[in-house]
Amino acid sequence: MDSEFRITEREASRVLDRCDTLAGLTEEPGVVTRRFATPALREAGRHVTTWMEAAGMKVHRDAIGNVIGRAGDPGLPTLLIGSHLDTVRNAGRYDGILGVLVGIACVELVRDLPYAIEVLGFADEEGVRYGTAYLGSSVVAGRFDHAALERRDADGVRMRDALKEFGGDPAGLEASRRDPDDLIGYYEVHIEQGPVLENENLPLGVVSAIAGQTRATVTFQGQAGHAGTVPMALRHDALSAAAEWIGVTEATARGREGLVATIGELRIEPGASNVIPAKATLSLDLRHGDDATRAGAREELRDRAGAIAAKRGVELDWSIVQETPAVECSRELTDRVSEAVAALGHPVRRLASGAGHDAAIISTLAPVSMLFVRCAGGISHNPAEAVTLEDVAAALEASVRFLEALR
Ligand code: GLV
Ligand code: MN
Ligand code: MN
Repeated sequence: MDSEFRITEREASRVLDRCDTLAGLTEEPGVVTRRFATPALREAGRHVTTWMEAAGMKVHRDAIGNVIGRAGDPGLPTLLIGSHLDTVRNAGRYDGILGVLVGIACVELVRDLPYAIEVLGFADEEGVRYGTAYLGSSVVAGRFDHAALERRDADGVRMRDALKEFGGDPAGLEASRRDPDDLIGYYEVHIEQGPVLENENLPLGVVSAIAGQTRATVTFQGQAGHAGTVPMALRHDALSAAAEWIGVTEATARGREGLVATIGELRIEPGASNVIPAKATLSLDLRHGDDATRAGAREELRDRAGAIAAKRGVELDWSIVQETPAVECSRELTDRVSEAVAALGHPVRRLASGAGHDAAIISTLAPVSMLFVRCAGGISHNPAEAVTLEDVAAALEASVRFLEALR
C-alpha cells in the first residue's frame, strides 16, 4: 500500500464513523428508520450540512428538503454527486447514506478541479412514507408530480403539510429544478445490495443500467361477516382473494427470467380474528430490466386479480402509484469510472442494478454513472447491511481518480 492509499483509508474510516452517527438519528429507537420529512431526517440533514461546511462547501436546502453542498465557483460546469438520506423501516446504515458521505469525502480529497462539485443528500428515495419514491431527485430533475402533494401517510398527514413542517416549500418545487445546461453529469456510489460482487470476490462494480419498476396499490373489497356463521361457499373474503393473487404473483415472477415481484405491505380490515376480512390492501413492487416485459407482467397480474375477484364476488381496485422506466448509464462516464477501477488494479465488473437509485431519475437531466461497493452477503434493506473499511477506501480511491480524470 502506498501512502496515498493510506490517506483514503483514514478518510474511509471517517465515512464509516459518519454512517454510524447518522444511524443514531431515527424515528424508532433501537432501529434505523428515517422517512421523508421527519424530525430524524431533518437532524440527519443538519449533520450532513455541518460536514459539508467543514469541507468548505456552500450549503443550502432546496424546496423538497434535499441538502445540497457546492464546492467550486459559481458559473463553473458542475458534476453532481449524490444519493439519499432517507431509509426504509428497520434499515441498514449504508443504503444511500454511503454515497452522500463518500461524495463529501471526495470533496475533502480532490484539489483544483476545473469544474464544480455539488453533493446532494436527497430527502426521499425509498418512498416509504408516501408510497411514491424518488421525491428528492424528481424535484432536482424537474419531474416531480405535484399531485403527490395531496397524498397522505399512514397517519393521515398530507405530504404538502409534512413538507411545510419539514421546512420545505411546496410552491418552490418547480424552481428547485437544476438547469441541465450547467451540468457535466451525475455520479453515485452505492452499496450493491446484491451478492454478485461478494461471489466474485470483487470490492467494486460499475453499474451499466438500472431496472425499471412499477409500484401499485391493489385492493380487494369483500364483505365482513361472522366467522362462525357464514358457510365457506357463501363468503366474500377479501383476504382469501388477496392470498390467491399473491400466489399467482409469485408464480408469475418465478416463471419469467429476470422478473421480480414483491408484496411488501398488506392491510386487512376490519382486522379481528372472528370477522371475515372485508378489505385487503396490498402494495405491489414489480421490476425488470426490460420495460416491455415488466409492462406485460403488470397487465397479466391485473387481469388475474380481476378474474380472482370476479370468481369470489369481491371488487378489485387497481391503482398505479409510480412507474419508472429502466435506464442505461452514460457510456462515456461509465467508461471513465471503469478506468478508475482498473487503475486500482481491480477487474472491471459491469453489472445492472435491480434496485432503484436516484441516478435513474437524474438520468432524465444529465448523463449518469454509478459505482457499486460490495456488501456482506448481498444483504440490504436489513439492519445486517455491512461493508468493509477496505472496500470503502477502494471506492473512495476510485472516485477520486475518476474525478481527477474528468478534467
Ligand atoms: C430502493 O431501495 C428501491 O430499489 O426500492
Ligand atoms: Mn433502499
Ligand atoms: Mn438506495
